[in-house]
Amino acid sequence: MAYYWFKAFHLIGVVVWFAGLFYLVRLFVYHAEAAQEPEPAQTILKKQYELMEKRLYNIITTPGMILTVAMAIGLISTEPEILKSGWLHIKLAFVLLLIGYHHFCKRIMKQLAKGECKWTGQQFRALNEAPTVLLVVIVLLAVFKNNLPLDLTTWLIVALVIAMAASIQLYAKKRKQNKEKQLQTNQEPELASTSVE
Ligand code: HEM
Repeated sequence: MAYYWFKAFHLIGVVVWFAGLFYLVRLFVYHAEAAQEPEPAQTILKKQYELMEKRLYNIITTPGMILTVAMAIGLISTEPEILKSGWLHIKLAFVLLLIGYHHFCKRIMKQLAKGECKWTGQQFRALNEAPTVLLVVIVLLAVFKNNLPLDLTTWLIVALVIAMAASIQLYAKKRKQNKEKQLQTNQEPELASTSVE
């Protein structure tokens, strides 16, 4: 019975951890793009995003990671023979990458707070695809274990996930271009009227 409790809370931890990671980098996008706003909006927005990032990281994201890992230790201590499974070793390698990503986000958060981060909103959007890839790989390994299928269906699913991620990036880029074009056309009549005056 303990094993099922550990597994249930392991999965709850995963959901909380990923919700935090995805939202954190979305806030980085808004935080980086706030630099294009005029003052005093820019300072107000940056302060607000800094606060939201700190709270999200400390109250949701890090506790989600701790819960996931603590429950995984519980799972392994209830059934220690699971440690001999090859799939778990590969999964652990990807989980280490995920923990590295988590800490990398903390570094970015500190740089943004100090105004030292050089990343653009577009780059943060692309960065937000990294946990998606790790999520897919880790869940596939946890579910299929040593029988991870590498047939056509699996590769089609992989291609679909990549296509979805690419189209999200393209959509965001197009929307940004349209916004910039709209800003330009709004400024042109203003410039024309000031030159007439
Ligand atoms: C310290 C890191 C982790 C360890 C040691 C670990 C270990 C385990 C173990 C031992 C199980 C039980 C497997 C079974 O009952 O067959 C499990 C289940 C599972 N884990 Fe993890 N895990 C870790 C992190 C993660 C992460 C980060 C994710 C998601 C991205 C994840 C997703 C899952 C899923 C979906 C299951 C349920 C699989 C099933 O019941 O078929 N795990 N994990």
